[in-house]
Amino acid sequence: MNTENKFTLLHRLLHWIMVVSMSVLFITGFLRMYWMGKQAVLDVLSSQNLGLTSDQAKDVYKALREPMWQWHEVFANVMILAFLARMIYMLSKGIRFPNPFKKGMPIKYYLQGFTYIYFYTFVLISAVTGICIEKGFFIQWEDTIEAVHKWGIYWFPIFVGLHIVGVVLAELSDKKGITSKMIGGD
Ligand code: HEM
Ligand code: HEM
Repeated sequence: MNTENKFTLLHRLLHWIMVVSMSVLFITGFLRMYWMGKQAVLDVLSSQNLGLTSDQAKDVYKALREPMWQWHEVFANVMILAFLARMIYMLSKGIRFPNPFKKGMPIKYYLQGFTYIYFYTFVLISAVTGICIEKGFFIQWEDTIEAVHKWGIYWFPIFVGLHIVGVVLAELSDKKGITSKMIGGD
């Protein structure tokens, strides 16, 4: 069991790269699905009586979406690389958080370990479904793949909530200063 909290430079870099990447992926995904989504933009355009045809209105929507969407695509690549680097690091150096499949640990270590397994499992699912959407793989299951990818709208905020509670509890109990170690090392 590894509950020691020494974070190497690589480990810390990967953590903060993932924080930024996941935040960008979530925000751009959310905006595309809701506030700046196709239907939202088309509704505003039609309410303005601009006399646009449906094709013109869709072109306006796509042109508006384009610069925002490039961020989802760029950070998807960054996240996939960070995830692969984390997996290689894990295989070579051990998992660096409590292994939830080991027996005989205090309950909080199981919760901590499972929170991270949950995170990496869903990152894997998001990455695989995202690549399928981008490359047009398994086009016959397009709707299902897109729907599974969009689960991100739920699983990511759930992870953030669990993670913040976990880190605060660790700070308040036996791991005081752990946040500072995740930033500046030991
Ligand atoms: C965190 C929550 C996330 C949300 C809400 C989200 C949302 C979306 C949405 C709405 C699409 C467009 C699907 C369509 O074509 O209809 C999409 C595409 C995509 N996503 Fe995500 N996503 C998330 C996380 C991720 C992650 C973690 C990755 C990769 C590690 C990723 C990679 C991709 C890729 C590669 C595409 C295809 C891009 C394209 O060709 O346009 N996404 N995502
Ligand atoms: C919102 C995006 C975030 C994501 C996706 C994320 C992800 C993760 C992951 C996956 C781990 C396990 C580390 C590992 O792989 O070995 C971790 C650990 C940690 N994170 Fe975050 N994190 C986020 C935000 C934050 C924030 C805002 C803080 C600071 C307040 C923070 C502080 C920590 C600390 C202190 C640890 C080590 C705790 C431990 O060993 O259980 N994280 N984070």
